[in-house]
Amino acid sequence: MEQLVEYKLDAHGENLLESIRRSPIASVISNPRLADNPIIAANEAFCALTGYPRDEIIGRNCKFLAGPGTEPWLTERISAGVRERRPVLVEIMNYKRDRSPFRNAVLVAPVFDTDGELEYFLGSQVELPVQSSGPSSARQARATALVKSLSARQREILELIARGQRNKQIAWQLGLSEKTVDMHRTLLFQKLDTHNVADAIRIAVEAGL
Ligand SMILES: Cc1cc2nc3c(=O)[nH]c(=O)nc-3n(C[C@H](O)[C@H](O)[C@H](O)COP(=O)(O)O)c2cc1C
Repeated sequence: MEQLVEYKLDAHGENLLESIRRSPIASVISNPRLADNPIIAANEAFCALTGYPRDEIIGRNCKFLAGPGTEPWLTERISAGVRERRPVLVEIMNYKRDRSPFRNAVLVAPVFDTDGELEYFLGSQVELPVQSSGPSSARQARATALVKSLSARQREILELIARGQRNKQIAWQLGLSEKTVDMHRTLLFQKLDTHNVADAIRIAVEAGL
């Protein structure tokens, strides 16, 4: 996956990038340390969903998906999540490059560095039928069932991952070694039937963790 040179990622960003590269769900990474929180990476599924080529995505704030029918109160809900650095899942009217509307179940979640400083935002987009209103119940039901299959400890760790925390902080908070957290992480990803952190975060938020 290409990125522009000026948006080079650090090692953690590279991991996140690898995680969205492997995700079948449309996903982006933004850098809130740069002016207007621009997208610094987007996967193939995002280009396929929205119709934008990567060179029209990288460097721009994700608000280009909004249009005349976008609900301002839902945009505000995303802005509040970004401001308060917590994950949000919102079903908002968005527009593809050809201006066709789609209902977007968008997840936006912060990712912190090992010093606890905000480093990136992860975004993932799922197209719902335009008529749909209310929750995307099939995905949420599946996510809830998957999360229920986890042990209490695994659920606790997933919740902290979904809040953007790294293994180091999770280990510290729960009084475990990083190695133990890593072991739980591998097992819980298996139970969630995913191999990447981006999709695990989405499942956690869909399940209401
Ligand atoms: C990583 C990330 C992904 C986003 N994805 C979408 C999206 O798919 N659709 C959308 O309408 N807004 C999305 N947003 C929200 C907009 O980028 C923007 O924050 C929002 O429109 C509010 O703009 P403001 O913060 O300038 O008020 C995303 C934000 C981030 C940080």
